[in-house]
Amino acid sequence: MVYIKQYRCINFIGLGYKIIKIIKMRTFLRLTNTKHFVRAFKTAVNVHDLKFREASNDDKSTILSLRHNVYRGLDYLPDQFDYFLHDDNRRCIVGELDGTLVSFGVILFLDGGESILGQAGRVHETYEGQGLFGAMNQYFNKIAIEHGCKRRVALVETSFNKYTRSEKFKLSHVEIASKLHYVGVVTEEIRLKLEEPLFQEHDHSEIIYIAPRDMHIVFNSTQVSNALFPKNRILLDFAPYRCMKENVKLLNGRNTNFYSTIRLTSNGVRGLLTAGSSFKCRNPPESYTIDIFGTDASDLENHLLFHLSKALKQIPGVFCLQIFTERGYIAQQLCKSLTKLDIPKCDWFVSGGVTTKTIVEEELR
Ligand SMILES: CC(C)(COP(=O)(O)OP(=O)(O)OC[C@H]1O[C@@H](n2cnc3c(N)ncnc32)[C@H](O)[C@@H]1OP(=O)(O)O)[C@@H](O)C(=O)NCCC(=O)NCCS
Repeated sequence: MVYIKQYRCINFIGLGYKIIKIIKMRTFLRLTNTKHFVRAFKTAVNVHDLKFREASNDDKSTILSLRHNVYRGLDYLPDQFDYFLHDDNRRCIVGELDGTLVSFGVILFLDGGESILGQAGRVHETYEGQGLFGAMNQYFNKIAIEHGCKRRVALVETSFNKYTRSEKFKLSHVEIASKLHYVGVVTEEIRLKLEEPLFQEHDHSEIIYIAPRDMHIVFNSTQVSNALFPKNRILLDFAPYRCMKENVKLLNGRNTNFYSTIRLTSNGVRGLLTAGSSFKCRNPPESYTIDIFGTDASDLENHLLFHLSKALKQIPGVFCLQIFTERGYIAQQLCKSLTKLDIPKCDWFVSGGVTTKTIVEEELR
């Protein structure tokens, strides 16, 4: 009996020793993990020392070197910086600590000045995780309130992003609508296939161009608008707009074009409206975005091939193909068409190439 008790005691000591060893190993692994290692050497800051001012052209290179590999190579800021800086509907803001530029972000005023959208936000890695982004967002909200804005909108990834799934986030944000976001890559090999006469001879004659300034005609038709834009939102080029005439002037973005096969039939609205735009990035060197509005899958392949042939003409090498569409049947058909075309999913940007993006709104007070 005594022997058994002693044995148990020795066992407990052994177990305790093992637990200490595991904890030590975990701490060591945590510290050698690059993120934690970098954090250990971070410069401690007080967010109240962060001073904001409007960005200027002289800040461009400092801003663009704040972060590397933003959006895993699909950063649109280097290409769009000049456009953002000179756009009357935007304000580009930098944050400085003791005269050193450490953060950047863009405010887009939309919905007739009732909403804002934050874009291209970034903080220098040395100062990460200390609330600078949060402080910058508070400053953006303050500017928005001073301008009479009522809400802040955002496009967020909800399947993987822990922050957007947190209770804290859900308390302040209301989900408005969601879309399927497909990301693929048109490699050199796929390019050659798509350039074959079979694809190039595709007849696109029934697709008509709609100038962005004429989009008010689409918004004005309740029947068409309801069919194309659920929840009265048009997600265009990563920005969520309300379908209102005040937004029409914003829809051309830097290089957005609309194409339509919409027709009114006795069975309701048929066809699709699509938009195409592109930006230069780092990996791959360019990205082409197709925004699909409507759910009539019978026109899908026609629009897809139309945009692909435009992208092939416009972009010389490998490019990323990003597509936003409604979820459900049309999304399934889209994935089938892309598989048929052999376009590989872009795994490094979005695991599995497909994700859900949600439009959320936060009330400003
Ligand atoms: C994302 C980034 C700007 C955060 O900067 P930061 O100064 O470290 O952020 P903060 O310390 O102020 O954290 C802000 C809060 O936002 C949250 N957050 C994390 N990712 C976020 C995101 N993509 N969008 C909004 N908020 C986010 C954090 O969880 C944190 O919340 P908490 O205070 O409740 O914990 C920074 O990591 C960065 O520059 N990354 C590269 C560029 C990038 O990916 N930008 C995406 C902007 S949407």
